[in-house]
Amino acid sequence: MDERDIIQQTAEHVRALLSGEGTGHDWHHIERVRRAALAIGQGEGADLFVVELAALLHDIADWKFAGGDHEAGPRQSRAWLQSLGVDARAIDHVCEIVAGLSFQGAGVKAAVLTLEGQCVQDADRLDALGAIGIARAFAYGGHKGQPLYEPDAPPTPHDSFEAYQRGASSTINHFYEKLLLLRDRMNTAAGRRLAAERHRFLEAYLEQFYAEWNGQR
Ligand code: ADP
Ligand code: NI
Repeated sequence: MDERDIIQQTAEHVRALLSGEGTGHDWHHIERVRRAALAIGQGEGADLFVVELAALLHDIADWKFAGGDHEAGPRQSRAWLQSLGVDARAIDHVCEIVAGLSFQGAGVKAAVLTLEGQCVQDADRLDALGAIGIARAFAYGGHKGQPLYEPDAPPTPHDSFEAYQRGASSTINHFYEKLLLLRDRMNTAAGRRLAAERHRFLEAYLEQFYAEWNGQR
Protein backbone atom coordinates (compact mmCIF):
# COMPACT_ATOMS: atom_id res chain seq x y z
CA MET A 1 0.00 0.00 0.00
CA ASP A 2 1.47 3.40 -0.85
CA GLU A 3 1.61 6.33 1.54
CA ARG A 4 -1.42 8.04 0.02
CA ASP A 5 -3.58 4.95 0.51
CA ILE A 6 -2.34 4.53 4.08
CA ILE A 7 -3.30 8.13 4.89
CA GLN A 8 -6.65 7.76 3.14
CA GLN A 9 -7.57 4.53 4.93
CA THR A 10 -6.43 5.91 8.28
CA ALA A 11 -8.53 9.05 7.78
CA GLU A 12 -11.62 6.92 7.04
CA HIS A 13 -10.95 4.69 10.05
CA VAL A 14 -10.62 7.68 12.42
CA ARG A 15 -13.60 9.48 10.92
CA ALA A 16 -15.78 6.43 11.55
CA LEU A 17 -14.55 6.22 15.16
CA LEU A 18 -14.90 9.90 16.09
CA SER A 19 -17.79 11.28 14.03
CA GLY A 20 -20.38 13.00 16.19
CA GLU A 21 -18.20 12.85 19.32
CA GLY A 22 -19.62 15.52 21.62
CA THR A 23 -16.75 16.82 23.75
CA GLY A 24 -14.64 18.61 21.16
CA HIS A 25 -12.59 15.56 20.15
CA ASP A 26 -14.70 14.88 17.09
CA TRP A 27 -13.55 14.26 13.52
CA HIS A 28 -13.53 17.99 12.75
CA HIS A 29 -10.98 18.53 15.52
CA ILE A 30 -8.82 15.84 13.92
CA GLU A 31 -9.17 17.48 10.49
CA ARG A 32 -8.19 20.90 11.85
CA VAL A 33 -5.18 19.43 13.64
CA ARG A 34 -4.21 17.51 10.51
CA ARG A 35 -4.34 20.64 8.34
CA ALA A 36 -2.49 22.84 10.84
CA ALA A 37 0.14 20.17 11.56
CA LEU A 38 0.86 19.74 7.85
CA ALA A 39 1.18 23.51 7.35
CA ILE A 40 3.54 23.82 10.33
CA GLY A 41 5.43 20.66 9.32
CA GLN A 42 5.95 21.94 5.79
CA GLY A 43 7.58 25.12 7.09
CA GLU A 44 9.75 23.09 9.45
CA GLY A 45 10.89 20.55 6.86
CA ALA A 46 9.36 17.68 8.87
CA ASP A 47 8.51 14.17 7.61
CA LEU A 48 4.95 14.90 6.50
CA PHE A 49 3.89 11.24 6.31
CA VAL A 50 4.62 10.81 10.03
CA VAL A 51 3.09 14.21 10.85
CA GLU A 52 -0.15 13.41 9.03
CA LEU A 53 -0.52 9.90 10.51
CA ALA A 54 0.17 11.13 14.04
CA ALA A 55 -2.30 14.02 13.64
CA LEU A 56 -4.98 11.60 12.42
CA LEU A 57 -4.39 9.10 15.23
CA HIS A 58 -3.59 11.41 18.15
CA ASP A 59 -7.02 11.22 19.84
CA ILE A 60 -8.30 7.77 18.82
CA ALA A 61 -8.20 6.50 22.39
CA ASP A 62 -7.44 9.56 24.51
CA TRP A 63 -6.89 8.76 28.23
CA LYS A 64 -9.80 11.08 29.06
CA PHE A 65 -12.14 8.64 27.31
CA ALA A 66 -10.32 5.32 27.64
CA GLY A 67 -10.94 4.96 31.37
CA GLY A 68 -7.64 6.70 32.13
CA ASP A 69 -5.62 4.11 30.16
CA HIS A 70 -2.60 6.05 28.82
CA GLU A 71 -1.40 3.18 26.68
CA ALA A 72 -4.67 2.75 24.78
CA GLY A 73 -3.94 5.44 22.15
CA PRO A 74 -0.46 4.24 21.16
CA ARG A 75 -1.58 0.60 21.37
CA GLN A 76 -4.57 1.07 19.08
CA SER A 77 -2.50 3.20 16.70
CA ARG A 78 0.15 0.47 16.48
CA ALA A 79 -2.41 -2.28 15.82
CA TRP A 80 -4.05 -0.19 13.10
CA LEU A 81 -0.80 0.74 11.34
CA GLN A 82 0.46 -2.84 11.53
CA SER A 83 -2.75 -4.02 9.89
CA LEU A 84 -1.90 -1.73 6.96
CA GLY A 85 1.67 -3.02 6.76
CA VAL A 86 3.27 0.35 7.55
CA ASP A 87 7.05 0.39 7.92
CA ALA A 88 8.08 -0.47 11.52
CA ARG A 89 10.16 2.67 12.04
CA ALA A 90 7.31 4.93 10.97
CA ILE A 91 4.96 3.01 13.32
CA ASP A 92 7.33 3.47 16.27
CA HIS A 93 7.66 7.16 15.51
CA VAL A 94 3.90 7.76 15.19
CA CYS A 95 3.14 5.83 18.40
CA GLU A 96 5.81 7.73 20.30
CA ILE A 97 4.14 10.98 19.23
CA VAL A 98 0.63 9.78 20.17
CA ALA A 99 1.97 8.75 23.60
CA GLY A 100 3.76 12.04 24.31
CA LEU A 101 1.32 14.65 23.07
CA SER A 102 -1.01 15.42 25.94
CA PHE A 103 -0.83 18.34 28.31
CA GLN A 104 -0.28 16.86 31.78
CA GLY A 105 -0.62 19.81 34.14
CA ALA A 106 0.93 23.25 34.63
CA GLY A 107 3.85 22.04 36.74
CA VAL A 108 4.58 18.77 34.91
CA LYS A 109 7.63 18.57 32.64
CA ALA A 110 6.51 17.71 29.11
CA ALA A 111 7.79 14.69 27.13
CA VAL A 112 10.64 15.39 24.70
CA LEU A 113 9.20 15.26 21.21
CA THR A 114 10.76 14.84 17.77
CA LEU A 115 10.33 17.63 15.22
CA GLU A 116 7.28 15.80 13.82
CA GLY A 117 5.82 15.45 17.31
CA GLN A 118 6.38 19.14 17.95
CA CYS A 119 4.41 20.06 14.82
CA VAL A 120 1.44 17.87 15.81
CA GLN A 121 1.52 19.12 19.39
CA ASP A 122 1.50 22.74 18.27
CA ALA A 123 -1.45 22.04 15.96
CA ASP A 124 -3.35 20.26 18.75
CA ARG A 125 -2.67 23.10 21.16
CA LEU A 126 -3.76 25.76 18.68
CA ASP A 127 -7.15 24.03 18.59
CA ALA A 128 -7.39 24.52 22.37
CA LEU A 129 -6.98 28.31 21.87
CA GLY A 130 -9.03 31.03 20.18
CA ALA A 131 -12.77 30.89 19.52
CA ILE A 132 -12.71 27.17 18.82
CA GLY A 133 -10.65 26.47 21.92
CA ILE A 134 -13.20 28.30 24.06
CA ALA A 135 -16.05 26.32 22.49
CA ARG A 136 -14.19 23.06 23.11
CA ALA A 137 -13.40 23.93 26.71
CA PHE A 138 -17.07 24.58 27.54
CA ALA A 139 -18.16 21.48 25.64
CA TYR A 140 -15.69 19.36 27.59
CA GLY A 141 -16.59 21.09 30.86
CA GLY A 142 -20.27 20.32 30.24
CA HIS A 143 -19.42 16.69 29.52
CA LYS A 144 -17.57 16.52 32.86
CA GLY A 145 -20.39 18.33 34.68
CA GLN A 146 -18.09 21.21 35.69
CA PRO A 147 -19.55 24.63 36.52
CA LEU A 148 -18.86 27.42 34.03
CA TYR A 149 -17.26 29.57 36.71
CA GLU A 150 -16.93 29.47 40.50
CA PRO A 151 -15.74 32.88 41.73
CA ASP A 152 -14.77 31.46 45.14
CA ALA A 153 -12.61 28.62 43.79
CA PRO A 154 -9.26 29.98 42.58
CA PRO A 155 -7.35 28.08 39.86
CA THR A 156 -4.68 25.61 41.01
CA PRO A 157 -1.56 24.91 38.93
CA HIS A 158 -1.47 21.07 38.90
CA ASP A 159 1.91 19.64 39.71
CA SER A 160 1.09 16.06 38.79
CA PHE A 161 -0.71 14.43 35.89
CA GLU A 162 -3.03 12.70 38.40
CA ALA A 163 -4.13 16.03 39.84
CA TYR A 164 -4.66 17.49 36.35
CA GLN A 165 -6.74 14.47 35.32
CA ARG A 166 -9.13 14.98 38.20
CA GLY A 167 -10.08 18.10 36.27
CA ALA A 168 -10.70 21.77 36.77
CA SER A 169 -13.02 23.11 39.43
CA SER A 170 -14.63 25.18 36.67
CA THR A 171 -14.12 25.72 32.97
CA ILE A 172 -12.94 29.30 33.57
CA ASN A 173 -10.28 27.82 35.87
CA HIS A 174 -9.17 25.56 33.02
CA PHE A 175 -8.17 28.74 31.15
CA TYR A 176 -5.60 29.46 33.90
CA GLU A 177 -4.63 25.83 34.49
CA LYS A 178 -3.92 25.09 30.83
CA LEU A 179 -5.12 27.33 28.02
CA LEU A 180 -3.29 30.54 28.95
CA LEU A 181 -0.07 28.57 29.53
CA LEU A 182 0.11 27.18 26.01
CA ARG A 183 1.38 30.31 24.24
CA ASP A 184 4.72 30.12 26.01
CA ARG A 185 5.05 26.38 25.47
CA MET A 186 4.74 26.24 21.71
CA ASN A 187 7.50 24.41 19.83
CA THR A 188 7.68 26.10 16.42
CA ALA A 189 7.85 29.69 15.16
CA ALA A 190 4.59 29.34 13.21
CA GLY A 191 2.91 27.79 16.24
CA ARG A 192 4.07 30.63 18.47
CA ARG A 193 2.79 33.28 16.07
CA LEU A 194 -0.70 31.76 15.79
CA ALA A 195 -0.86 30.99 19.50
CA ALA A 196 -0.09 34.63 20.37
CA GLU A 197 -3.11 35.80 18.35
CA ARG A 198 -5.43 33.22 19.83
CA HIS A 199 -4.11 33.92 23.32
CA ARG A 200 -5.12 37.58 22.97
CA PHE A 201 -8.60 36.42 22.01
CA LEU A 202 -8.84 34.36 25.22
CA GLU A 203 -7.81 37.39 27.27
CA ALA A 204 -10.41 39.60 25.59
CA TYR A 205 -13.02 36.90 26.15
CA LEU A 206 -12.22 36.66 29.87
CA GLU A 207 -12.39 40.42 30.25
CA GLN A 208 -15.85 40.49 28.71
CA PHE A 209 -16.92 37.43 30.74
CA TYR A 210 -16.00 39.07 34.08
CA ALA A 211 -17.54 42.38 33.06
CA GLU A 212 -20.85 40.67 32.29
CA TRP A 213 -20.61 38.54 35.43
CA ASN A 214 -20.21 41.68 37.53
CA GLY A 215 -22.98 43.54 35.74
CA GLN A 216 -20.59 46.09 34.27
CA ARG A 217 -21.49 45.55 30.62
P1 ADP B 1 -5.02 17.40 25.65
O1 ADP B 1 -4.96 15.91 25.50
O2 ADP B 1 -3.68 18.07 25.70
O3 ADP B 1 -5.91 17.84 26.78
P2 ADP B 1 -6.90 17.52 23.48
O4 ADP B 1 -6.68 17.92 22.10
O5 ADP B 1 -7.24 16.11 23.78
O6 ADP B 1 -5.66 17.98 24.34
O7 ADP B 1 -8.05 18.47 23.97
C1 ADP B 1 -8.71 18.44 25.09
C2 ADP B 1 -9.73 19.59 24.99
O8 ADP B 1 -10.54 19.59 26.12
C3 ADP B 1 -9.02 20.92 24.96
O9 ADP B 1 -9.66 21.89 24.22
C4 ADP B 1 -8.92 21.21 26.42
O10 ADP B 1 -8.67 22.53 26.73
C5 ADP B 1 -10.26 20.73 26.91
N1 ADP B 1 -10.20 20.34 28.33
C6 ADP B 1 -9.41 19.43 28.93
N2 ADP B 1 -9.64 19.40 30.27
C7 ADP B 1 -10.60 20.33 30.51
C8 ADP B 1 -11.30 20.79 31.68
N3 ADP B 1 -11.07 20.27 32.89
N4 ADP B 1 -12.22 21.76 31.52
C9 ADP B 1 -12.50 22.28 30.31
N5 ADP B 1 -11.88 21.90 29.18
C10 ADP B 1 -10.95 20.93 29.27
NI1 NI C 1 -6.54 16.62 20.16
